[in-house]
Amino acid sequence: RKRVLSGMRPTGKLHLGNYMGALHNWVKLQEEYECYFFIADWHALTTDYEDLSKLQSNIQDVALDFLAGGLDPEKSTIFVQSDVKLHAELHVLLSMFTSLSWLERVPSYKDQQEQLREKDLATYGFLGYPLLQTADILLYQPHFVPVGLDQASHVELTREIARRFNQLYPGSFFMAEGAAPWELEAVKTKARKNSGDAKKETFTPHELIAAAPQTKLKSGYGTRTILPEPEVLLTPSPKLPGTDGRKMSKSYGNTILMSDDEASVRAKLKTMVTDPARVRRDDPGNPEVCPVFDLHKVFSSAETQAEAAEGCVTAGIGCIECKGWLADGVVRALAPMQERRSYYESRPGLVDEILDAGGAKAWTRADETMRQVSEVMGLRYRS
Ligand code: TYM
Repeated sequence: RKRVLSGMRPTGKLHLGNYMGALHNWVKLQEEYECYFFIADWHALTTDYEDLSKLQSNIQDVALDFLAGGLDPEKSTIFVQSDVKLHAELHVLLSMFTSLSWLERVPSYKDQQEQLREKDLATYGFLGYPLLQTADILLYQPHFVPVGLDQASHVELTREIARRFNQLYPGSFFMAEGAAPWELEAVKTKARKNSGDAKKETFTPHELIAAAPQTKLKSGYGTRTILPEPEVLLTPSPKLPGTDGRKMSKSYGNTILMSDDEASVRAKLKTMVTDPARVRRDDPGNPEVCPVFDLHKVFSSAETQAEAAEGCVTAGIGCIECKGWLADGVVRALAPMQERRSYYESRPGLVDEILDAGGAKAWTRADETMRQVSEVMGLRYRS
């Protein structure tokens, strides 16, 4: 089975952007793939290292949101990053060949520093943020990383680093199926010649790769890649707007939470910005530039969407009414989550049990990767 990995920072309760951009996709993927989903508590420390008093309760909140959103601990491995210390071990190894300029070039580095001016983010940990994320990902050798648009550049860096690792430390050299045994012998003969040691018996993959083309054998040999380059998976709403029309984000204070009750959902949506050209009730609007309509596309039926669009361009309905229809859709989407949330809330200790068991499972998988990584790098490895 192909593997999937993704994570979220415990910076507070999850919002509809987190849900529609990522979690909703995870819930579908768990039906088909071997899935690892984690709470990135070390990543939360990179921007909030002073006051950690809320960290543990935030972890609980995110775990509960994962479960309320539909992650099934029987199908997905759900865990906390800091429980699997191998994330730090791989991070340190990757840091050896990651140049500073790669990290400085990641767009979120400058953007976040601008956004969070009041904090001192000229730190080692903050610069290393996307490299820690790279380690999180590569540690599970996943095929897919389902995230929102703002994370795509981090997955791009992950791919670059995987490529670099694989160049530096090609895995074992192997003869492809169907190749004759004498072909490998021919490669070894060339490699002996190259090294000037006629009795040489052990070869690095590098030596064999260099020698193989000299044999004039066209195929039949290759290397096994230890860290395959993962692909990013985006949902149809990879950048969901919040109530002020900007990307929904905790730092903008424009969120609707997965755990909000009906009254709060309705109150928040009532204040949501609309097409700025529609000043009065009788002005016709343009749904394509209205953030409320963006949310309709996600939360309303095709029928309601069509009615809302029609009402907007003809000024047949007002924005208040349009928002009311949207609220109906959002409330409908959240209802099953409230039910699952109360199931877990009424069973104290269950969430911790799930995280403990997930941590142990994740460790086993991560250990497998670290064994391979250590082997090709020539390091000792004791798990
Ligand atoms: P984080 O915690 O900021 O966000 C969690 C996920 O939610 C997505 N998201 C959105 N998607 C659509 N519209 C929005 N308005 C919106 N807001 C947030 C994010 O894209 C993300 O998928 N660095 C990561 C956490 C992380 C990670 C990893 C992710 C650490 N290691 C390894 C994947 C793989 C982060 O801060 O996400």
